[in-house]
Amino acid sequence: MPQLAGRFQTLPEYPLATIPQRKRALVERGVDVIDLGAGDADLGPPAAALDALSTAARVPAMSRYGFGLGLVAFREAVAAWMGKRFGLRFDPLTEIVPLIGSKEGIAHVAFAYLEPGRVAIVPEPGYNAYQGGALLASAEPYRYTLRPRRNFLVDVDEIPFDVWDRARVLYLNYPNNPTAAVAPLDYLQRVVARCREHDVLLVYDNAYSEFAYDGYVPPSIFEIDGAREVAIEFHSLSKTYNMTGWRCGWAVAKPEICSVLAKVKSFTDTGQFMAVQAAAVAALGVYDEFVPRNVAEFKRRRDVAVEAFRTAGFRCDVPRATMYVWLALPQDVPSAMFAERLLEDEGVVVMPGSAFGTGGEGFIRVSFVTSPERIAQAAQRAGRVLTSMAVEVP
Ligand SMILES: Cc1ncc(COP(=O)(O)O)c(C=O)c1O
Repeated sequence: MPQLAGRFQTLPEYPLATIPQRKRALVERGVDVIDLGAGDADLGPPAAALDALSTAARVPAMSRYGFGLGLVAFREAVAAWMGKRFGLRFDPLTEIVPLIGSKEGIAHVAFAYLEPGRVAIVPEPGYNAYQGGALLASAEPYRYTLRPRRNFLVDVDEIPFDVWDRARVLYLNYPNNPTAAVAPLDYLQRVVARCREHDVLLVYDNAYSEFAYDGYVPPSIFEIDGAREVAIEFHSLSKTYNMTGWRCGWAVAKPEICSVLAKVKSFTDTGQFMAVQAAAVAALGVYDEFVPRNVAEFKRRRDVAVEAFRTAGFRCDVPRATMYVWLALPQDVPSAMFAERLLEDEGVVVMPGSAFGTGGEGFIRVSFVTSPERIAQAAQRAGRVLTSMAVEVP
């Protein structure tokens, strides 16, 4: 058996990797499964995207390699959208990198900046691609625990000076998965200033920029003065347009940063299917009709989720953004054990906080990705497990 590389062996199990198989086995046993695990809604993409895909797929040129350039119309549509949404100008050819989903870009950018001896500051709980990128680049993740008393923000003053000294990358994600926290502008100003001081690349993951409620409008990191010097921002069609499986997103940054990510990608992929890029152009084109209605549906689901899980005995804040409720468990109830019991006894998939790093212990993440009725049912089932475990674990 060929020996595995040391860096491979540093990778933990990927939390969502085995859920589809587990679900299938339960369904085969006749269990009525409610899946509130992945951030993957049961709603459809815009009709305009479906039409554009089927038209584009019939054009032979679309079946050829996209290469790094991809469909220029996609780059132009992204630049126009960044202008309309955030009032920011980016050059379509040099300041945008089309991605096969934002995850690959988030992980791949690490190869350009990280190496042995260097540090990536990784918030925990957090999206697993951050530590994945750092570990695959043989760098050292510095795991910073996000805490409720800090509003789940990375307090840059708490990170030791020697870590800043060795750091090359800081991953940041607001609106945040899994905690649903949002970041005030003055906080982002402090982060940008610190990254500039230490020459650290700020990888700003904005996958949930369009998923906000109650009048809150998430910013782009580039609304902060000086951010263009040090930041790269990641966007995705996945959540905004219910297009997770289509694998389409983009990175935006100054040309010097975009070009290094593009170079890494030129050795690992040959571009997204151009018909998908054509569909993305159509999706961005129907933003005004599609996105507010979609968000309104998620708000309905959020309100039911908060109400139902609170009634079932859980504590949580009302999320101002994302598709997640971050539920506190009673002390001494381990999140993995709770999630396992909920799945096995009641057929409900949720993510244990520990799946997002040890900093997530004490919580579970519920994705409000299905109908309000099913969410309410899931909450009742979760309440039963909570009651039985609270008795067992004093
Ligand atoms: C915080 C965060 N970033 C990025 C992504 C990746 O999205 P995609 O690769 O589908 O664009 C996700 C998906 O769950 C996420 O939660």
